[in-house]
Amino acid sequence: MNDPTVAPSFWASPFCRADDFEMHGGDTDHVRERYPHAPEPWIDLSTGINPFPYPIPPLPPDTWSRLPLREEEAKLRLNAAHCYGADDPDRIVSAPGTQALIQVIPRLIEPTTVAILGPTYREHVRCWKRMGHTVREIGEVNEIADAKIVVLVNPNNPTGRHYTPHRLLSLAEDIARRQGLLLVDEAFADFLGTEQSLVPLRPPSTIVLRSFGKTYGLAGVRLGFAIAEPHVVSLLRAWLGPWAVSGPALTIGCQALEDAGWLTDARARLTTAAQQLDKLLVGAGCKIVGRTNLFRLAEHPRAQSLADALARNGIHVRQFSDQKTWLRFGIPATKALCRIEAAFASLPPAA
Ligand SMILES: Cc1ncc(COP(=O)(O)O)c(C=O)c1O
Repeated sequence: MNDPTVAPSFWASPFCRADDFEMHGGDTDHVRERYPHAPEPWIDLSTGINPFPYPIPPLPPDTWSRLPLREEEAKLRLNAAHCYGADDPDRIVSAPGTQALIQVIPRLIEPTTVAILGPTYREHVRCWKRMGHTVREIGEVNEIADAKIVVLVNPNNPTGRHYTPHRLLSLAEDIARRQGLLLVDEAFADFLGTEQSLVPLRPPSTIVLRSFGKTYGLAGVRLGFAIAEPHVVSLLRAWLGPWAVSGPALTIGCQALEDAGWLTDARARLTTAAQQLDKLLVGAGCKIVGRTNLFRLAEHPRAQSLADALARNGIHVRQFSDQKTWLRFGIPATKALCRIEAAFASLPPAA
C-alpha cells in the first residue's frame, strides 16, 4: 500500500524511488568501516581520477564571498570551446559535473525509446528510466533498431571500447534523420586529443559530455560540460539555472583548460604510471581486458579475493556486482605502486 521507498504521486516522477541511489567508487569512508585494521592512508583506485592533480591557483578571496559573474562563466565557456574543439562558446554548457547533465538531459524529452550501449556507467540507465523512458541496454551499435535516443560512453567505462569519431558522425546523421538524439559521454576522452573526439565534427542532433574532474584530478571541484547545437545549449542552461558552477570552479577551470602544456605532461606521467600498473597486474595473474588513460579493467578468476586482499592493505578498487571476475583499477600515483605489489603478494593461495 504505502511503500515508503516509492515517491508518492504528489512528487513529479512516479519512477523515482527514494532508494534509487548507487555509489560508483570513491566511497572510502564506507570501506574504511568494513576494513578498520587496514593501514592509512587509503589508496583510492576505485574511480578513474587522475592521481596527479592540476595545481590549484591562488583564488582571490572574493571568489568565495560573491556570486559568480556572468563574464567569468563566459570566459570558461570560451576556453572550453577552444580546448574541446567546439570553437563556438554558444555550443558549450558548463555544469557542476557531467553527472548533473546526465540527470537533466532525460527531462528535456518526452518519454520515448532509449538504447544504451552497455555495460557502461550505470547512471545513464538510471537517469533515463527515472524520467519514464523505455530503456534497452544493448551490446553493439547494430542493435539500436528504432530507438529515438542512443547513449554511449566513448571511450567506454569500464570496458574501454572506443568508436572512431567518423563512425559516430554517421550514427548521428542517421539518428538526426529520424529526429532523435545521440548522447556521447566523452568523460575519458581528454587525453586522446581532439582528433579522437566527436566535437570538432559538429554532429547533428548530438550532445557530447566532457568531465573536468577526472582529467584534471579535481573531481571535488565538480565541473563538467555539454557540447551541443546552440538551441539545445540554451535549453540546458535554462534547466540548470543561474550560478550552476561555483566561482572557485570557474576560476580553476578557466586556467586549467588553457594549459595545454600541463595536459601533455600529465598524459606522459599517466602513461608511465599505467605501464607500471600493467606489470603488477599481469604479474598477479590478471588479464587486462579494458583500458583508457585513466584506468585499467582487469579480469581475474579470484577477483573478489584479490579485492579483499587489496582492501586489507588499504587499497580500494572497483568491483562489479554483475561481473564478478572484473576489477577496475584507477591509475595509481607512483608512490602507491609498492603497496599494490605488497597487497598482491598477500593474496592467499587458491584452496
Ligand atoms: C562515464 C562517466 N560519465 C560521467 C561521470 C560523472 O563524472 P563527473 O560528474 O565527475 O563529471 C562518470 C563518473 O564516474 C563517468 O564514469
